[in-house]
Amino acid sequence: MKKIVILISGRGSNMQALLSAGLPCQITAVISNRADAQGLETARQHGIATRAIPHCDYTDRASFDMALAAAIDSYQPDFVVLAGFMRILTEQFVNRYHGRLINIHPSLLPAYAGMHTHERALQDGVKIHGCTVHFVTPDLDLGPVIIQAAVPVLYNDTAQMLSERVLKQEHIIYPQAIRWLCEGKVMLNAEKKSVFNGAEIASPALIAPHME
Ligand code: GRF
Repeated sequence: MKKIVILISGRGSNMQALLSAGLPCQITAVISNRADAQGLETARQHGIATRAIPHCDYTDRASFDMALAAAIDSYQPDFVVLAGFMRILTEQFVNRYHGRLINIHPSLLPAYAGMHTHERALQDGVKIHGCTVHFVTPDLDLGPVIIQAAVPVLYNDTAQMLSERVLKQEHIIYPQAIRWLCEGKVMLNAEKKSVFNGAEIASPALIAPHME
């Protein structure tokens, strides 16, 4: 059975979705760069080993990433899953887990890489927003896409309302992506493209606003 380690920084609702999804893998540990991350307590309640590696204990990114990698490697995971992990990782760290490091981002990448995605989507007046699970490469938030969910933006949306609707979809697509990875249905190929080996079923189009 494949093994995964999850990295978090805060609330951990995506981690919780992964823990509750009955995935065909062993979640061996949850590691946070913040000792007070709410998600660590949730993980403990699920009987998962937890570790805190506070980034402020390290003088630079490289030494923090080395300590983080040593902790991760002690669990020998097949995949390292970032679930609201709010640290930029060094190229060296990212390359160490090439094809095995996965992230979820609250936008339809490559649109709105970076922070404040919901505010920026509202500001631009787009009618469709969403979330993306992708392989992590050294280009921040721009690695090959595994799965995306599109969410309509409503006329009276606030960033909070929109983020809640997007988060619901994150909790659906992240477990699906990790399931595919563990089953060997999706992988990163030599051309750095995400390839899917399963039978694909097309969803009908999302049109927003809804047509009468
Ligand atoms: C999610 O919106 C995720 O996409 C982003 O950070 C947020 C983390 O939320 N990377 P949670 O900690 O999983 O609740």
